[in-house]
Amino acid sequence: MKKLIIANWKMQLSLKESLELAKQSVKKIKGKNIIVLCPDFLALPYVGPILKGTNLNLGAQDSAIVGRGAYTGEVSPLDLKALGVKYVILGHSERREHLHESSLIINAKIKVALTGGLIPILCVGEKLEVKKNGETEEYLSREIAHSLQGVKIKSASDLVIAYEPIWAISTNKNARPMSALDADAIHKFIKARAARILKKPVAVLYGGSVNAANAGEFLSQKNVAGLLVGGASLKIKDFSHICSL
Ligand code: 13P
Repeated sequence: MKKLIIANWKMQLSLKESLELAKQSVKKIKGKNIIVLCPDFLALPYVGPILKGTNLNLGAQDSAIVGRGAYTGEVSPLDLKALGVKYVILGHSERREHLHESSLIINAKIKVALTGGLIPILCVGEKLEVKKNGETEEYLSREIAHSLQGVKIKSASDLVIAYEPIWAISTNKNARPMSALDADAIHKFIKARAARILKKPVAVLYGGSVNAANAGEFLSQKNVAGLLVGGASLKIKDFSHICSL
């Protein structure tokens, strides 16, 4: 089955480097999977034309809580759509942490993105402390319920969830990937919680220290529909290997 593999370039590259990586990606990434590259906002209008007509899709890393209005500094999902953006990452833990984004805000962003014709990739995931306290399931249930409250989708492919345990994200202190078997069990749990709200079986991706060596193991799990990749998506050799699995 085709897997969904998403590259989150975060704010790690200069505009010049983003364009170079986009060109390399078009040359090197092959295979049957659905691949999405998410550069930062500034690079989107330049990366879009590079990906046009290829098997690589364009994604954004965020979008606004409304389609149009007096929202200084925000970027409308309508303009992203017009640029050829298909997917949008919403509620990434880095935005929740550094920019204090609440599930209420993320919920509004999801609704507007859907109305604008984008596919939201809702990120959820717990901190190490929550895991240590054995409260992962309660925490995720709450995060999913608040983020998806009142969200309606027509088909299962209209929305994607990415499970990224915060303690596994490579740029966080003492990060390590979770075991593929543990990931499978949590993905099953997330799928069931989301299906209760959305009435559709949406795909759940894994993210957190995915690399060329461990990606295959995650992808072979029944409940893991794909990957959200940070650090390794910036290395074309590693990412093209991950995409080819
Ligand atoms: P890493 O793959 O670098 O751990 O990042 C994961 C992530 O945050 C992707 O959104």
